[in-house]
Amino acid sequence: MPRKPAARILKGTPRNLELLARRLQAGDIVGVPTETVYGLAADALNPTACRKIFEAKGRPVSDPLIVHLHSLRDLAKVAVANSAALKLAETFWPGPLTLVLPKLEVVPSIVSAGLPSVAVRVPAHPLFRRLLKLVGRPLAAPSANPFGYISPTTAEHVRSGLGTKIRYILDGGASGIGLESTIVDLRNPAKPRLLRPGAITREQLTETLGCAIAWHPQRSGQIAKPQLAPGSLLRHYSPLTPLVIHARASVALAARSAPDEAWLFISKPAGTLSKNIYWLDRSGNLRTAARRLFAQLRSLDTKGYSKIHAELAGANGTGPAAAINDRLRRAAAK
Ligand code: TXA
Ligand code: MG
Repeated sequence: MPRKPAARILKGTPRNLELLARRLQAGDIVGVPTETVYGLAADALNPTACRKIFEAKGRPVSDPLIVHLHSLRDLAKVAVANSAALKLAETFWPGPLTLVLPKLEVVPSIVSAGLPSVAVRVPAHPLFRRLLKLVGRPLAAPSANPFGYISPTTAEHVRSGLGTKIRYILDGGASGIGLESTIVDLRNPAKPRLLRPGAITREQLTETLGCAIAWHPQRSGQIAKPQLAPGSLLRHYSPLTPLVIHARASVALAARSAPDEAWLFISKPAGTLSKNIYWLDRSGNLRTAARRLFAQLRSLDTKGYSKIHAELAGANGTGPAAAINDRLRRAAAK
C-alpha cells in the first residue's frame, strides 16, 4: 500500500479557508490554530467525523471533546445556558474559557462521551473564527496531539505528532496563550467548579461570578468513569523524557545533578550558567512563560537528556501560576 503523505500546512488565505471549510463540511478532520493550543477539528454534529478525531489521536472514547462555537448566539443550539454561564461568556468570550453545561440532543454522544453535558467555548483566534463562520456549524476539537503527549502550539508541532493521520493543518502562527483553556463546570450554576486552570484565572472567575469556585481537578489514575469525573488521566501533556518538578530549584541544586539532566527555570537564574540550564522568560513574566512552556518541553525532549527538572511557578500557584503548575504536575505524574 502506498504511504500516506504527511499533512499539508496551509496559510489562511481566503481560498484555503474555503477549501478547509468544505473538507470539514464533508466530514474530514483538520488541524486548526486557536489562541490556546492547536486543535484537531471536526463537525461537532457529525458523529462519523468526530470518531476520526479519536482514531487520529489514539484518544479513548471516554474522554469528551470541547465544542467550539462562532459566537455566544450559537450557545443555545448545543447547550442549556444559565445566568452564571451567560455572565462568564459575556465577559470572557471570545477567549480561553470553556463552560460545561447540560447538552442538547443534537450533540452526538461521541462528543460528550455519553455524558448529559457538553463543554463549549468561543475561541478568539481570528483564523479559526473565520473558519467557524465559513463552516456554519460548531466544531469539536481536542488538542491536536497524540493522546498523552504535550499539546501543540504551532502547526509544525501538529504535523510532527499526527503526521500522516490528517491531511490539512491551518497555520495560524504560534498560539498566543500556549496552555489549554480554563474549564468551568456550570451544570449547577450555584456551585461552579474549576475543572482545569488556564489563562482565565480562578480569581477572575470569582470576581465575575461573585462567588467562590471550588477546584475539582480532573482525577488521577485510570481513565475516569465518565459519570464520576469526566475527563482524563492525571498523566497528560508529558514529554517522553522523565520530568521531575521542584517547588524550589536553584543553580546550586542543578550543579549537583548529572550533566545529562536539564533544568528548566521560570526566569533566568543569576550567575554563570551551564549548558543544561534553561528558562521560560528572562524576567519571569508568567504569561510569557506559559506561552513558551509546551514548546520548550518539546524541544528539551529532543535533546537527549536523561531527565528534565522543572521549577514550579511561584505565588502559591495563584493567578497564571496555577495553570503552569497544573501542566507541570501532570507532565511529571507517573
Ligand atoms: O484550549 C482548549 O481547550 C483546547 C483548544 C483546542 O480549544 N482544547 C483542549 O481539548 O484542550 P482537550 O480535549 O485536550 O481537553 C478537553 C477537556 C478534557 O479534559 C475533557 O475531559 C474535558 O475537556 N471535557 C470535555 N467535555 C466535558 C464534559 N462534558 N464534562 C467535563 N469535562 C469535559
Ligand atoms: Mg488535550
